[in-house]
Amino acid sequence: MTDTAGAGALPAEGMPAPRVLDEIRALRAGDRPTHGGRLFAYVYDPGVAGLDELAQAAYAESAHVNGLDPTAFPSLLAMENALVAAAARLLGGGPGTDAPDVVGSVTGGGTESLLLAVKAARDARPDLAEPRIVVPASAHAAFAKAAHYLRVALDTVPVDPVTLRPAGADVAAAIRPETVLVVASAPSYAHGVVDPVAEIAAVAAEAGVRCHVDACFGGWALPWLRRLGAPVPPFDFAVPGVTSISVDLHKYAYAPKGVSVLLHRDAALRSPQYFAYADWPGYTMVNPVIASTRSGGPIAAAYATLRHLGEDGYLRLAASTRDAVAGLADAVRATDGLRLMAEPESTVVCFTAEDPTLDLFLLVDELTARGWHTQPQLRYADLPASVHLTVTAAVAPRVAEFGPALADAVAAARAAGPVALPPDLLALAGGLTPEALTPELVAGLAEGLGLGGGAGAPDRMAVVNTLLDAAPAPVRERLLAEFVGLLQRPAW
Ligand SMILES: Cc1ncc(COP(=O)(O)O)c(C=O)c1O
Repeated sequence: MTDTAGAGALPAEGMPAPRVLDEIRALRAGDRPTHGGRLFAYVYDPGVAGLDELAQAAYAESAHVNGLDPTAFPSLLAMENALVAAAARLLGGGPGTDAPDVVGSVTGGGTESLLLAVKAARDARPDLAEPRIVVPASAHAAFAKAAHYLRVALDTVPVDPVTLRPAGADVAAAIRPETVLVVASAPSYAHGVVDPVAEIAAVAAEAGVRCHVDACFGGWALPWLRRLGAPVPPFDFAVPGVTSISVDLHKYAYAPKGVSVLLHRDAALRSPQYFAYADWPGYTMVNPVIASTRSGGPIAAAYATLRHLGEDGYLRLAASTRDAVAGLADAVRATDGLRLMAEPESTVVCFTAEDPTLDLFLLVDELTARGWHTQPQLRYADLPASVHLTVTAAVAPRVAEFGPALADAVAAARAAGPVALPPDLLALAGGLTPEALTPELVAGLAEGLGLGGGAGAPDRMAVVNTLLDAAPAPVRERLLAEFVGLLQRPAW
């Protein structure tokens, strides 16, 4: 007989609340720091005192409210509609604009918004057996995921290695009779550059195809930066031909995770986004988004965040972020051997090494060792490996410390590097095929690289990144998927 006495999260006897919270806090101690302005990915921190507490209280008020049925919980509907109105207004829609009929939905995140933009475009064309979408190579990976999930073909347009933007003419050339959606980013995540949205939307409109602007990352930052005087090119509903826009509130609106807004220029464009099903004995299911049951917590927390910060708050935060970006970019410019991938035009600082004696992956490790958490980006097509910094308002007070830390880390990386993998391992990585990567091989590789401990990634990742950098994309994908699979094991 199986013994059902507790395992993992479920103890045989329930524990007192304080002990449970102590456990979680002890676990959290191993995480990267979500506050303090030294983490340049994953977390968006405004550094506003009291905001966390407000968002948590709002979350708690609505955590058990179910977004499944807006008629049962009108509070949630009211907050969703208010979030959509705020996002639409910020992005050139609403009464008195060129997009007066804009509508939208609150989703659980950027990836969900993009999946739904692709689904809406696909399902608007049921006549097409093999629908396709056109995306710049710099578009977020979530479009590839959407294409994969929804069985839509992905046509990728290269970006210029200098401007890091696609050319409108190349987008036009990629549009085929089966194309249901054309994508532009405002800005791209990797480099923070804004695509030529007006040009791309024009070629899409000319072909009678929808155009989605992925402003998941920057949609809540660019409008404030523009109001502060930055030369932000048109990217929102003011641009003719833009049919939908996504903007994540859990990024630069500084709401806790789990909220994005997907806007459509009108309700007819949104209609095929919905899923409704009545052909079963239960309730008729009507889902505007992917999840059916969903918590009101993230929506209430986002609502509270917007109400509390207000336009004046976001403008102040954007000014701090802009200043932090300028300071970080100056630090990069002042460092021998580093080069900005692009002049910052939003909230990203991205740099590469132009000196082979300076190993970027070692530099990332050295920065980590000094408490600065940056994000390495592997080489892609004709773009070199780079280091990505997502800059938020909380970084501003730390900027003066970054330059010396960077100089110090560069010196240490130069002294230690570059990483030299055994040539046969490099050749193996370059020549591997995904099929050759059996779970056993990956487990052995992970063990050999110090990734087998089961406690996440080690602090020093340069060797692993060098290996991944040498591998073609399908091998990187397979290696990392297998590796994450190794991490996701039941904690008996
Ligand atoms: C431009 C862009 N689109 C989409 C996404 C996906 O968002 P999420 O991670 O919330 O699913 C991101 C995330 O960084 C992004 O930067």
